[in-house]
Amino acid sequence: LAIASIVQPEGRLIGFDQDAWALAHRAGPRLEGLPVSLIQANFSEMETFLKERDALPVTGGILLDIGVSSFQLDQAERGFSFSKEAPLDMRMNAEGSLTAAIILNEWSEAELLRIFSEYGEERFSRTIAREIVQQRKLKPFETTLDLAHLVVGIYERHKAWPPRGNERKSKPIHPATQVFQAIRIAVNDELGHLERFLNRAPSLLAPGARLAIISFHSLEDRIVKQAFKNFAQGCQCPAWFPVCQCGLRPTLKILTGKPVTASEEEIRQNPRSRSARLRVAERLPESS
Ligand SMILES: C[S@@+](CC[C@H](N)C(=O)[O-])C[C@H]1O[C@@H](n2cnc3c(N)ncnc32)[C@H](O)[C@@H]1O
Repeated sequence: LAIASIVQPEGRLIGFDQDAWALAHRAGPRLEGLPVSLIQANFSEMETFLKERDALPVTGGILLDIGVSSFQLDQAERGFSFSKEAPLDMRMNAEGSLTAAIILNEWSEAELLRIFSEYGEERFSRTIAREIVQQRKLKPFETTLDLAHLVVGIYERHKAWPPRGNERKSKPIHPATQVFQAIRIAVNDELGHLERFLNRAPSLLAPGARLAIISFHSLEDRIVKQAFKNFAQGCQCPAWFPVCQCGLRPTLKILTGKPVTASEEEIRQNPRSRSARLRVAERLPESS
């Protein structure tokens, strides 16, 4: 809303979300009357859409506000939440072919273990993956609570839930949080799309235009940080090469050494901003 209000009169804002519901029911009505085009697509495909609209190179900047939205978490029927019974879905794009149910009922134990430990940093990944595979032989996983109950049971057996003593003072994190997060990241191939977008990002921007990315997960932030570093450095030859062979020149200047995080006040007003990390870079001229 703030960006759409300042790009006038010559500018325009092109907004992408892969979630048709978010565009139709939230962004669309809120931005009505402003110079905004909304496109239901993955942001990793934005180059095609920007080209069609003669919007390349982007002169102002690109802002990605990624991850899952509060609306998605709060719409129980979409299956993102472990606290309400719903089909195991978790697709941000309702037309996507992969669902949480497919992952749980069809992926191998090794693949489940990988996503739980890599995307969820879940300490009981091995046991959870093993028990999912055992349980689905008896009855396939159908709802969010089928999965949440299995994870809670494992935590209880390891005496890691409910929290005791000191742990009870702070707000406890529900045992199924990381497993749900891992499955959601896998269903939506969130890291893959971010990497595909980043590979092309500098070539979408005009000199001086900015790239700002808000992420909510340490793996996403690491990918953004590394990509910014590579683009700011240019040459990717090994340090021991006497002369550059790759010919890559720096294309971005990093404007945020450390990621910008929400203030105490913002976290008080919006607790979900707690994990947000903002990194910003600026497109350098070709000759840099
Ligand atoms: C943190 S929310 C922010 C939404 C919006 N900026 C707001 O303030 O309400 C993230 C949104 O990004 C969308 N999203 C996440 N990854 C995406 C991707 N790869 N391509 C397109 N949209 C994506 C989600 O569907 C979700 O609506």
